[in-house]
Amino acid sequence: PCVAQEKTETATLIRDDLKRVSPGMRRMLGCNLDHLQDASTYYTLAQGKQLRPSLVLLVSRAVSLLNGINRSVASERYILDCNPALLLDGDVLPSQLRLAQITEMIHVASLLHDDVIDLATHRRGQVSGNIAFGNQQAVFAGDFILARASTAMARLRNTRVTELLATVIADLIRGEFLQLRNVDEKGGDALQASFDYYLEKSYLKTASLISKSCMAAAVLGKAVPSIVQAIGEFGRCLGIAFQLVDDALDFKSTDGDLGKPANADLKLGLATAPVLFAWKQFPELESAVRSNFQSKGAIEQARQYVREADGVRKTEAWAGQFIVKAKGLLSSHIPDSPPLQALLDICDRVITRKK
Ligand code: FPP
Ligand code: MG
Ligand code: MG
Repeated sequence: PCVAQEKTETATLIRDDLKRVSPGMRRMLGCNLDHLQDASTYYTLAQGKQLRPSLVLLVSRAVSLLNGINRSVASERYILDCNPALLLDGDVLPSQLRLAQITEMIHVASLLHDDVIDLATHRRGQVSGNIAFGNQQAVFAGDFILARASTAMARLRNTRVTELLATVIADLIRGEFLQLRNVDEKGGDALQASFDYYLEKSYLKTASLISKSCMAAAVLGKAVPSIVQAIGEFGRCLGIAFQLVDDALDFKSTDGDLGKPANADLKLGLATAPVLFAWKQFPELESAVRSNFQSKGAIEQARQYVREADGVRKTEAWAGQFIVKAKGLLSSHIPDSPPLQALLDICDRVITRKK
């Protein structure tokens, strides 16, 4: 098929399941307190990228396809003898659709809290939850979403999946906690340590949810351990690439493109990858990085160094390396099929996205 047909196929593959994600989340957030229900469903009513539920649904399809092949190998039939139509039509289990919803609920809960902490004004093209409902209600709404996500998790009755997702919540908080500083205090080479610290933080605040929700989809689909591991590593690489691109976009985009304020990270005191690359070239940036750009003129100086050091392009190139690794992991573990092509397509879109 031509590229256009493949793209259409990719889009239709999970379209119907994806349509059920937000309404399902809203049902789980039903409550007799109208204000609490309004605040907690607020971000489910705006158009997000739906990256995480899409990945969960596609990994579910890929695993069901693999199981089909394994079953036919077990029954001593040659793979080539199998009816490809049967193999490729692996369904998403109800538990995996629920997992896609739980994953997005954890994400949305973290966004409500994040927007309070970051004093945000906009998110997903509308005013952010802290502005629409105030800090107190936004925090309670995030807590409530986590509570309902936990109930839904318990109902999956799978301790491995519960453990994976509970670990994600701890990771989100650990990532945010690390982000309170730009430089690890361990000593040694401060620049190298800061790159390592940044990668660890990016894993915890972004890649962990992507990685472990994909692993959970594979666990629910009864994938063999080596596949669960490979899918987890794929999610780690894709998630870190996603955060690198996010940090590059903060420097090069406009509010209108992003649906949230651009040029926000330096104002929040954060030294993201573009700044670390600038520091590598201009060692005099170190004190501003250490003091979270609080002194007069520090933000403009950092912006200038990022431009001169080509920090955004270097960050995008680094993201590209993680994407190559993510795609390699997929291609070496999942046979060529519509879900594989759709996952590879998402990898490319993470790099080329504008918001
Ligand atoms: C967005 O990052 C936010 C996160 C990746 C995670 C935020 C996590 C917490 C606030 C910990 C609490 C967690 C839960 C589950 C309640 P960003 O601020 O870099 O990006 P942005 O530009 O989209 O705001
Ligand atoms: Mg934040
Ligand atoms: Mg934020």
